[in-house]
Amino acid sequence: MTEPHHGIHIQGLSKRYGSGDTAVLALKDVNMQVAPGEVVGLIGPSGSGKSSLLKCLGAVTDPTAGRMTLGGQTIYDNGWQVRDLRALRRDKIGFVFQAPYLIPFLDVTDNVALLPMLAGLPNGQARARALELLRALDVQHRARAMPAQLSGGEQQRVAIARGLVNRPPVILADEPTAPLDSERALAVMRILGEMARAYHTAIVVVTHDEKIIPTFRRLYHIRDGVTHEEAGQARPLA
Ligand SMILES: Nc1ncnc2c1ncn2[C@@H]1O[C@H](COP(=O)(O)OP(=O)(O)O)[C@@H](O)[C@H]1O
Ligand SMILES: [Mg+2]
Repeated sequence: MTEPHHGIHIQGLSKRYGSGDTAVLALKDVNMQVAPGEVVGLIGPSGSGKSSLLKCLGAVTDPTAGRMTLGGQTIYDNGWQVRDLRALRRDKIGFVFQAPYLIPFLDVTDNVALLPMLAGLPNGQARARALELLRALDVQHRARAMPAQLSGGEQQRVAIARGLVNRPPVILADEPTAPLDSERALAVMRILGEMARAYHTAIVVVTHDEKIIPTFRRLYHIRDGVTHEEAGQARPLA
């Protein structure tokens, strides 16, 4: 069988919590394909399974059945699961959360450089990589600032830099624009699109944010644990 080489491929994924009478089937039939360089939206009402799907995608929890490959590697296949989930998360997945969760006593550069340092890159190289991303995200002038000195939009850009710094093939963003005004929310989406293309990253954005929904070319709706794909309003790039 040919293995898709990059991006995200999910087939017939399900997730059950608990067993017996109290079991909850949070995901019933999830199918999703995200190409390298693509940003897709994931939307759905409360309780529909968004967080459960993000946890499976992020290798934070194990699915119950189905198949999932990330960045060309099979992570889960009907009960079989990759052994070293920590290494997998470190190498394959970048997380961008709503609250940026920056480390308050490290400056902006070291907040971004910490992950590659922990992965064993020499400090100088890790900082150089952090600065390159801060430049790409237009916050290089804040490189020596502490997180508390940043605006909300700047914090979110730093959080995006941190999500990208280990060059993961997959980025999972949970409500990344929720605290931002329209202009900054659209700027964050533009940046995510540019980063996806520049680094061949597959990005999933979970959102309720009406402001950014028109920016997606493709969306997945999830209802009662079942995904439905639909075309978004944004035009495909030439
Ligand atoms: N740890 C858990 N144990 C039992 N049920 C859970 C757990 N987490 C989520 N659920 C249930 O799974 C369903 C989907 O929840 P969730 O994935 O959090 O949806 P969403 O993020 O879209 O609100 C809900 O019915 C929820 O109550
Ligand atoms: Mg949730």
